[in-house]
Amino acid sequence: MSNSIQSVLVETRVFPPPQDFAKQANVSGAAGYQALLDEADQNPEGFWGRMARENLQWTKPFTQVLDESRAPFYRWFGDGELNVSANCLDANLKNGNANKIAIIFEADGGEVKKVTYQQLHDLVCKFANGLKSLGYKHGDRSIIYLPMSIEAVVAMQACARLGITHSVVFGGFSSKSLHERITDVGASLVITADEQMRGGKAIPLKPAVDEAIAMGGCEAVRHCIVYKRTGGKIAWDAKRDIWMSDLADKQSPVCEPVAVNAEHPLFILYTSGSTGKPKGVQHSSGGYLLWAKLTMQWTFDAKPSDIFWCTADVGWVTGHTYITYGPLAAGMTQIVFEGVPTYPDAGRFWKMIQDHKVTTFYTAPTAIRSLIKASEANAAHHPKSYDLSSLRLLGSVGEPINPEAWMWYHTNVGGERCPIVDTWWQTETGGHMITPLPGATPLKPGSCTTRLPGITAAIVDETGGDVEPGHGGFLVIKRPWPSMIRNIWGDPDRFEKSYFPSELRGYYLAGDGAQCDKDGCFWIMGRIDDVLNVSGHRLGTMEVESALVAHELVAEAAVVGRPDDTTGEAVVAFVVLKRSRPEGDEATAIGKQLRDWVAKEIGPIAKPKEIRFGDNLPKTRSGKIMRRLLRVVAKGEQVTQDVSTLENPAILDQLSKPV
Ligand code: PRX
Repeated sequence: MSNSIQSVLVETRVFPPPQDFAKQANVSGAAGYQALLDEADQNPEGFWGRMARENLQWTKPFTQVLDESRAPFYRWFGDGELNVSANCLDANLKNGNANKIAIIFEADGGEVKKVTYQQLHDLVCKFANGLKSLGYKHGDRSIIYLPMSIEAVVAMQACARLGITHSVVFGGFSSKSLHERITDVGASLVITADEQMRGGKAIPLKPAVDEAIAMGGCEAVRHCIVYKRTGGKIAWDAKRDIWMSDLADKQSPVCEPVAVNAEHPLFILYTSGSTGKPKGVQHSSGGYLLWAKLTMQWTFDAKPSDIFWCTADVGWVTGHTYITYGPLAAGMTQIVFEGVPTYPDAGRFWKMIQDHKVTTFYTAPTAIRSLIKASEANAAHHPKSYDLSSLRLLGSVGEPINPEAWMWYHTNVGGERCPIVDTWWQTETGGHMITPLPGATPLKPGSCTTRLPGITAAIVDETGGDVEPGHGGFLVIKRPWPSMIRNIWGDPDRFEKSYFPSELRGYYLAGDGAQCDKDGCFWIMGRIDDVLNVSGHRLGTMEVESALVAHELVAEAAVVGRPDDTTGEAVVAFVVLKRSRPEGDEATAIGKQLRDWVAKEIGPIAKPKEIRFGDNLPKTRSGKIMRRLLRVVAKGEQVTQDVSTLENPAILDQLSKPV
């Protein structure tokens, strides 16, 4: 157990919901929360059916709420039909939001562009009509590789409008990762941009698509649609490539939404697991959208006057649910930000909150921790140097937030008046699962507190039995919920084995270790598998190992995580070369070469923070690498465990020394 986990478990501070907030909240007070919880527990199908009828517009009403006959391949609202884009856009035109600002876009360089719901609807329809004119239709699959932009939201919504299943690939992923996803998903369409702007620099995107397609196996791709972001020079294949504006501008701003079955896959999003190959997490249309909208209302207490800002990228699930779908379904005005928190300086987030009068701010602990450091280094970038009085609610996502960072966020950003919702969820869960409700739940720094209504989260042992409060165990969800993962694209066996192992009584296994305290609050203790969480991004140790061993110099590699003050965890790689062990400057040079190689194979987020070279790796006599010991060594701690089963105990000394 790491020191940070020990420190959260002795945390005793409790912050009740502020009275003013509770008075106006969508879910108010302990009684408001309990009423929903009881309704959902006592009659889950009645509860979910009511929610789905009241919150979504169905073109064909469903008659069955949940079909469990092929569990764990659950179907929700399975004979109902709807269109997700119509629920996000047309619904707002009908209910008086046509002239309301839907998106305030701020570019890396500071330019601001706003679109109303009517304008966004028209942009989506024009682009959808363009896609239709190229023959794309319901059942096709697209890859979206775009920077944060209004165009990214338009592309995703246009696919949803036509029933095209999208798979968004984060712009920081390499051409190799892109290739893996294009081929696995069987995409016939790629939507990208010439370049993206980050921190004042132009970074090419289209060249990565060209490279990926040139790797072969992408014959299904008929078109590559390119959003002109910078006008930078790019190669052009006249038969395949089309500018987004050439395709969309001339089209009609009316495009009839295609009604799809509630279970139609809205998107497939790849995420890391415990093997080398990322998993294509498949989500539904009806159940997913229901939860995106409900959690906006419950967790974020969505109000018509809010200015909502989720700082995630649309390449991750947070950007799907809390940028592209949830805020629009809830009729909110939201910020879409292209850049990074430290450009032109580390006051960027605070300045944007001040300029746009943001009311609800949702970011990751890593960003908070790096901005704490920056504000300590330069008071001009401290949140107190800005007017943040518009804020009424703060959120945290993606990794555990340590109590110190929580307190700083609460005091300096939230002015001690804004509740903080520490939201625990995953790519697979589609939306928030365990989180405070800001007008109802007492907050504890470092705990994601209690389960949402309808979410049967629990801590169990290896046989699925409930674990007493105060004891660690596996975090599971006992009953299905509408926005749950439906399948791993193309790999139903892996879906069943990874998430519903037979020992656990059919419960959904989240892959996190956790414990509950006596008040029923959950404390997440980290992953139980070989998945790391670096800056809130999920990364499989096997993925990094596969990338390293693909390098011509590398014979063997083992990758582990080490706690890191800023990024939560950092990647440490232990490497054995095919040649003799390098030392000094040579080790530094080869280390750099390998780090760059990993960035090229996967993406810069996967770069090991540290590489250590050895003549060998610590192995048992049967040849198994002892990662447990490597984790100790990576932290710079002395190995105190029994090493008698080790074939080569002396290797630990060699690996203990950083290069
Ligand atoms: O370990 C948990 C951690 O992030 C994992 C899910 O990662 P991903 O699918 O990339 O989704 C991230 C955005 C939802 C979880 O298994 N995690 C996420 N949120 C929290 C968290 N750990 C602690 N506290 C959280 N609030």
